[in-house]
Amino acid sequence: MIDTTEVQPRVADPYAVRQPMPRARYDALSRDILALKKKLNAVILAHNYQVAEIQDIADYVGDSLGLAQQAAKTPADVIVFCGVHFMAETAKILNPNKVVVLPDVDAGCSLESSCPAPKLAELQRTNPNFYTIAYINCSAAVKALSDVIVTSGNAVKIVNAAPKDRDLLFVPDENLGSWVMEKTGRPMTLWKGNCYVHVEWTHASITRIRREFPDAPLVAHPECTKAVRLLADEVCSTERMVGYCRQSPAQEFIIATEAGMLHRLERECPGKKFIPAPTDNCRCNECKFMKMNTLEKVHDCMAKLAPQLHLSADILARAKLPIERMLEISARP
Ligand code: 13P
Ligand code: SF4
Repeated sequence: MIDTTEVQPRVADPYAVRQPMPRARYDALSRDILALKKKLNAVILAHNYQVAEIQDIADYVGDSLGLAQQAAKTPADVIVFCGVHFMAETAKILNPNKVVVLPDVDAGCSLESSCPAPKLAELQRTNPNFYTIAYINCSAAVKALSDVIVTSGNAVKIVNAAPKDRDLLFVPDENLGSWVMEKTGRPMTLWKGNCYVHVEWTHASITRIRREFPDAPLVAHPECTKAVRLLADEVCSTERMVGYCRQSPAQEFIIATEAGMLHRLERECPGKKFIPAPTDNCRCNECKFMKMNTLEKVHDCMAKLAPQLHLSADILARAKLPIERMLEISARP
């Protein structure tokens, strides 16, 4: 079946709200991508941290949970996954018989690399009563060793549903893990990984910007440190940031997450102002991995059907179970 979904710009002129690529180049690439999408019966899924040009041509833009849910139900034959490697892997695990391509195969994640599967297996051997809860920001091999997967959007719900007679082991983000412990009251052994972007915000850098914009609520991702989370008006996944900012009467917001989120927020909440939270020593709020993807690379991966995701049958089978468990618990009322 051919998917007739058109690439629908979500604003009147997406080019007008983005920027660095010359207009003619943007128009030509967008046209070619649309034609390839029809020819391949492809769907383009993009994370909220992708560059504006990619967000604007995607069929769906969202957080890790929304992207996994879209991947689980898409009727498309080809999934073009614009995010980082572990996200495309998740789409492949949910669709082992579909082609999953990604613009740049080297787009990794500091959380994923902090937790090699053999090291996790070693820790698991020290306590047979461990129930392993893995943040989706991990490799397929780590997912295959886990009991359930979580995203920042459903971690509290899933930890609340974890068996009461097991010792909870949470990998690989210690900041998300400690936030979930605060929210659920469930003690957990935490893997000592972190997101190299979200730990750049400090109590001092946030306090400074709050003094400058005293009426602007601070919205922070749970991958931020506790020192920053304590200053926040709202701590949530990237998708929930959209809902929070939309329904809030405030007109200005300080956003402590990766910079790509600002494009999504500006598009969804026209007229409101979003201030990127500053770091102490650098403009470190861009994830170098997320930013490896460009519109040209999206075009090329569709034209060549490469790079493609390939996983062994064993990993595919073992990693699917904890992801499906996550989707099932997430869908509960
Ligand atoms: P979300 O699931 O909230 O979009 O977060 C993904 C991520 O990589 C945060 O750094
Ligand atoms: Fe990984 Fe951090 Fe980049 Fe998200 S922002 S993909 S957690 S390195």
